[in-house]
Amino acid sequence: MAKILVTYFSLTGNTKKVAEAIFEALEKQKEILPLEEVKKVDEYDLLFIGFPVHSHSVPYKVESFLRQLPLGKKVALFSTHGSLTGSELSRQAIEHAVSIIPQAKVVGTFSCRGRISQAALEIFRGLPEHEAWVDMAASAFRHPDENDLEEARAFARWVMSIYPYR
Ligand SMILES: Cc1cc2nc3c(=O)[nH]c(=O)nc-3n(C[C@H](O)[C@H](O)[C@H](O)COP(=O)(O)O)c2cc1C
Repeated sequence: MAKILVTYFSLTGNTKKVAEAIFEALEKQKEILPLEEVKKVDEYDLLFIGFPVHSHSVPYKVESFLRQLPLGKKVALFSTHGSLTGSELSRQAIEHAVSIIPQAKVVGTFSCRGRISQAALEIFRGLPEHEAWVDMAASAFRHPDENDLEEARAFARWVMSIYPYR
């Protein structure tokens, strides 16, 4: 049976929550590990890889992990972000993540909003060029909520329904 790894990078727990929802929705032969603890990926048929959006992009640690994925590895990417769902800003990072792994086979992507920490908000608030963005990001304070987590579970089930064929 296929072996599936859910792995994530998460500073304040939002991406971890989404990872756990995805993990819950998967059936057998599954593992969940923070990115830092992943030793090798060869034994997995499919990887769900999650990250928080940082500076409209993929955190450095996650970017280097992605770049090292072996040829043909099947992956499903997910992210959490402060920006509004569907905004160009929220899409950029996941599009970037897809673009840096031409060697892998991306079977799906998912993203939802995640509360931005007070400390990060304070830092961005002090920078005039980020004022508008901070107002938008601050409204993510209830996320990920139960609805986001249910969508993450649905995403996992959908990926499982299509991935053997892609
Ligand atoms: C240093 C830093 C930079 C961030 N930059 C962005 C950003 O560019 N765009 C965005 O939508 N959210 C940004 N965020 C918000 C996070 O992506 C969001 O809060 C995410 O859910 C955090 O996930 P985590 O709890 O798993 O770390 C930033 C947060 C931090 C701490």
